Amino acid sequence: MRRSLIIIKKGSRKGVAFPHIRRQSRQKSVLTNRFAVVLINPSPELKMLPRMTLGLQQIAAYKRDGFLVIENFVSPTACDDLRARAEELVREFNPSLISIFSTHEQTRTSDDYFLESGDKIRFFFEENAFNSNRMLRQSKEQSINKIGHALHDLDPVFDRFSRTKEIEQLVRELGIEDPLLLQSMYIFKQPRIGGEVTCHQDATFIYTEPLRMVGLWFALEDATIENGCLWAIPGGHKLGLKSRFVRADAGGTRFETFDDSPWAEENLQPLEVKKGSLIVLHPLLPHLSRENKSSQSRHAYTLHIIDPSCEYPASNWLQRSAEMPLRGF
Ligand code: FE2
Repeated sequence: MRRSLIIIKKGSRKGVAFPHIRRQSRQKSVLTNRFAVVLINPSPELKMLPRMTLGLQQIAAYKRDGFLVIENFVSPTACDDLRARAEELVREFNPSLISIFSTHEQTRTSDDYFLESGDKIRFFFEENAFNSNRMLRQSKEQSINKIGHALHDLDPVFDRFSRTKEIEQLVRELGIEDPLLLQSMYIFKQPRIGGEVTCHQDATFIYTEPLRMVGLWFALEDATIENGCLWAIPGGHKLGLKSRFVRADAGGTRFETFDDSPWAEENLQPLEVKKGSLIVLHPLLPHLSRENKSSQSRHAYTLHIIDPSCEYPASNWLQRSAEMPLRGF
């Protein structure tokens, strides 16, 4: 198993372009009593919002709540294109070729399959997708939980989607001046079997020193309470990091806990959003998603973007080989 430390030097990457950012204010914001909803691109014809800038009010809301909802960030067509590509990848994937499904050393091979996925496109199944004979209970298309974690670098469709000027501009406005795209995930949240993701902070899984990172969560379908939308504790990002998920010296992974007090889950609020919305997540924001017991899927695409001026610890579970350094926009 490779455990290369990512060494990132400013200006040393290839293929990084920083096109001129146009700043025009064509946005309208609505502040609800719970969180800010930014209506920036009311035209669904536009693929991404080409002329947006975040206002001071929106940046202040992000700092206050730890998240920001931006509606109509992605056109319905672009959402559908991404869905079609993900479904194509799953169709082409042959689960029987993966050692994770062998009967021997199940845990170790599962760990390796996961731990080596930082610079690959790998497929992960719902926990209860297999029967006692390690066979899928239903079709692979209906069993897949997510694809990760380097779609944005290895697949041309996801690469194009992830490296738009609009995303770059947004990330810069959120304070990441020289962004690098670290991780991507396509999450299926399947009808009826889509599993729960318990309350966590993304910085538990992706940590930098100092902590300078942003999470982008694109709703490719309407996300509702019924189909397992995100829930978050507004302002919970101000309470500090509770734990880190790190590589263990003996192999595998472990949690390093700094604060084992329970989350104030009574303060969770649902972030129901329409297809095409973007939810920006602070790395310390406590959030979760519940099981999808409905008959509707809840597809989403996520990106995590870091700042190369911060140290990326070798203990982070997510690592890349030296042959595939991180790239910017
Ligand atoms: Fe998360």
